Amino acid sequence: MAEFTEFAARKSREAEQAHLAPFSTLEDRSADFDILAIGNDWSRHLYDGPFHITADRGGDVPLMSLVFVQSLDGNTGAANPDSLGGGPVDKHVIYEGLSRVAADGVLAGSKSVGKQSFFSVWHPQLVSLRAVLGLPRHPAQVIVTGRACVDFADTLLFNVPEAPVYIISTPAGCERLEAAVKHRPHVELVRMSGDDLRAPLSFLRRERGVRRISAIGGRTTASALIDQGLVQDVYLTTTARNGGEPNTPFYTGTHPPDLNTVVRKEGGDREFPMAFEHSMIVPRRNLSPAPLV
Ligand SMILES: NC(=O)c1ccc[n+]([C@@H]2O[C@H](COP(=O)([O-])OP(=O)(O)OC[C@H]3O[C@@H](n4cnc5c(N)ncnc54)[C@H](OP(=O)(O)O)[C@@H]3O)[C@@H](O)[C@H]2O)c1
Repeated sequence: MAEFTEFAARKSREAEQAHLAPFSTLEDRSADFDILAIGNDWSRHLYDGPFHITADRGGDVPLMSLVFVQSLDGNTGAANPDSLGGGPVDKHVIYEGLSRVAADGVLAGSKSVGKQSFFSVWHPQLVSLRAVLGLPRHPAQVIVTGRACVDFADTLLFNVPEAPVYIISTPAGCERLEAAVKHRPHVELVRMSGDDLRAPLSFLRRERGVRRISAIGGRTTASALIDQGLVQDVYLTTTARNGGEPNTPFYTGTHPPDLNTVVRKEGGDREFPMAFEHSMIVPRRNLSPAPLV
């Protein structure tokens, strides 16, 4: 726990000391959507208006948003996504900020979890906004892994008892992790069948009260969530730099989502020029191939 206390203090310090230049709104179509506006004076100043999230009208699975930073040439893959050039505003106001401030859980694919990963908000203004929204200090940590190669001892997010961890894995993966999880009462295995994420997510909503999830990717996980019709909102930052691993867009499947713009903004930090767009995915009709006649 000493390690987490130090980690949390460092993250809060970094967020508080970061130079944050406000966004400017380029287009605002938010009135056309069934969405909620959230924020406080601090966030409204930096984001240039309220931040929008899909309204919770019930449903059998948690609401799901994706948050990504991509290079100018559309790549998201990078050992350290900070290297894509989003800068402090993307990191502290969007990524570790408004995109997850109202989330019950943050979801990541196993390849986006590093030893020092723990997904939360850190700026005191965001910590207080979470409290105002009636949410616990930290979101639950939701990890997706088929093979279940998990390093419990050396990965921070498995070792913070105050934050529940849900590991979504295959039956074989769950079996493999069972013994290790016994010693960690705040870690729970949630079975998936095949690559279906709907049933485990439905369990999280129904049985664990997880109503809203911010999914941070990476692209493999994001594409699976999109293909299974589980995502509503996309928060996408596009930097002014080319870079990242080639051919790593945030969606890598065969049916790119149709996106409707909610708001478009530009960053105000000259050192890290970037564009930000919040879009909503247009629900797909049945994608199964037409029957052969
Ligand atoms: N630019 C950004 O905003 C951003 C955000 C996040 C990550 N990243 C970067 O993206 C890269 C990682 O992306 P990635 O696409 O390679 O990996 P990823 O999506 O982070 O993780 C993929 C893994 O998640 C598990 N998984 C996902 N969907 C599954 C399903 N339906 N069924 C079973 N298992 C499933 C599998 O785990 P197992 O292999 O364990 O079975 C799979 O190999 C890293 O470079 C990271 O730094 C960038």
